[in-house]
Amino acid sequence: MKITAKAPANIAFIKYWGKKDEKLRLPANGSISMNLSEVFTTTTVEFDNKLKNDTVKIDGRYVKDREKLRVVNHLERIRKIAKVKKRARVESKNNFPRGTGIASSASGFAALTLAASKAAGLNLSEKELSVLARMGSGSACRSIPDGFVEWKIGNTSGSSYAHSLHPANYWSVCDVVAIVGEKKKEVSSTRGHTIANSSPFYKTRISGMREKVSGLKKALKNKDFTKFGEIVEEDAINMHAVMMTSSPPLFYWSPETIELSLEVKSWRHKGIECYFTIDAGPNMHIICKERDVLRINRKLKNVKAVRRVIINKSAIGVRVV
Ligand code: PMV
Repeated sequence: MKITAKAPANIAFIKYWGKKDEKLRLPANGSISMNLSEVFTTTTVEFDNKLKNDTVKIDGRYVKDREKLRVVNHLERIRKIAKVKKRARVESKNNFPRGTGIASSASGFAALTLAASKAAGLNLSEKELSVLARMGSGSACRSIPDGFVEWKIGNTSGSSYAHSLHPANYWSVCDVVAIVGEKKKEVSSTRGHTIANSSPFYKTRISGMREKVSGLKKALKNKDFTKFGEIVEEDAINMHAVMMTSSPPLFYWSPETIELSLEVKSWRHKGIECYFTIDAGPNMHIICKERDVLRINRKLKNVKAVRRVIINKSAIGVRVV
């Protein structure tokens, strides 16, 4: 069977950085995210008797080496569960630049998990899909359920998965992504997680995470945008402090990232309530209320470093299309 699935990227409000179990991809801390409406991956998978090897095409080009191996390893996990031997043809398209801190591995592995498992004849539950997607890329488990999502740490593979806290239409929070760089990052987040604990600040960050997660859940529940935004911004800076102080240090920011963070603060002081968050890349995610999106977009047009703006609302999770 040939199946196509579409999955959104997600933006983490509380970030996942560092693992407590490398092999199982169990995170060191819980995280919370929102699926993004305008940045997604669409993936088609077909198992075929005639194929000798898996073929993997991403954004129009056959990939090789490490990039291909990661996909093939994921197909192996699915073949094992489905007891299928056939090789697969995988074709995946992103509607945004990949590897620049817009969670392409999240949308990519979420779409691959649903398309490949269905094409292999499996009918997995949301929880099973989330567990499986996590094995491909940690944050991918959060692109499976709808809307506002929590990934609980878990102690075993089966208990570390994401679930929906609120549906997509729960709150009209937006993520205005300001693209300042489209160059692929030099150090992948997969590698970054493995050195997170070399930062002297890592333990301190992890020790405060439980409280931060419950604070953010409470702010979400009460739709308290100020509290929510403050925690989001603080956690992003906190994560980047760990990244910058790990060994070797990881600087995902560019000068434009700093420039924009100062802009966001100044807009806030002028009465446009917005906060920033940044993943493993230089691009800025500006979190705001829907009513302020156009004003922020206009302001971004005056910032020279900004090449492109993508305005996202909260979205549903992965689906077969
Ligand atoms: O799932 P990974 O290995 O790509 O890690 C994601 C890491 C961050 O994007 C920086 C944070 C997060 O929680 O999404």
